[in-house]
Amino acid sequence: MRRGLAAGNWKMNGTGASLSEIEALKAAHPDPSVEILICPPATLVERMSAVAKGSAVAVGGQDCHAAEAGAHTGDISAAMLTDAGATHVILGHSERRADHGETDANVRAKTEAALMGGLVAVVCLGESLDEREGGKTLDVIGTQLAGSLPDAITGANTVIAYEPIWAIGTGKIPTIEQIAEVHDFIRAELVKRYGAEGEAIRVLYGGSVKPSNAAEIFAVENVDGALVGGASLTAQDFSPIITALENA
Ligand code: 13P
Repeated sequence: MRRGLAAGNWKMNGTGASLSEIEALKAAHPDPSVEILICPPATLVERMSAVAKGSAVAVGGQDCHAAEAGAHTGDISAAMLTDAGATHVILGHSERRADHGETDANVRAKTEAALMGGLVAVVCLGESLDEREGGKTLDVIGTQLAGSLPDAITGANTVIAYEPIWAIGTGKIPTIEQIAEVHDFIRAELVKRYGAEGEAIRVLYGGSVKPSNAAEIFAVENVDGALVGGASLTAQDFSPIITALENA
């Protein structure tokens, strides 16, 4: 019942030359059975949206401010992203939580702003290695989930991404049992808080997803897709991940 979502987070990578990767993705996936999303740096949102127009590739931002407008140098609003052609925005990525001190309350406020602005929010959660080794993973995820999400969300306007911090960019992934445990927990928490709508909210896995491990991750119940960093930068790597999700 939940449609798969293959999402790419380009982070601080990519210039105009990288738009050829979108041309290649369009050509490789003219009519995919899953959703495809690429979140480039803000400088590329408008140009990428133009390149992706009319295709199955959606474009998203990597952050937005909680306010509609105002004196916030360097920041970008939900309305600016939609104006540039974005339909989605990543919020609360662990790199933003670490580099910019974003708290659960900040992420919740940003998510509210994104939803008000008509964007689909991709809200990120994840534990550190210390928290994992200390046996605190489910506590941490439960706290982030409770604090980062607004009270009224739907499967249509919000996606959760579970990204263990220690798996991001490291080539390490949790065991399949560990992924299943956290995704089952997130599903149960979503259903507890949002009722039937909690069944419709997609939960992505993120952290060192590659063409070589995508199929086994997508076979896990309650994994509805992936948020992919490094392997989303080229169509050559991202395309087989999309195909693995279509085949899951
Ligand atoms: P990698 O796929 O490079 O590990 O990054 C994951 C991530 O942080 C996506 O948001």
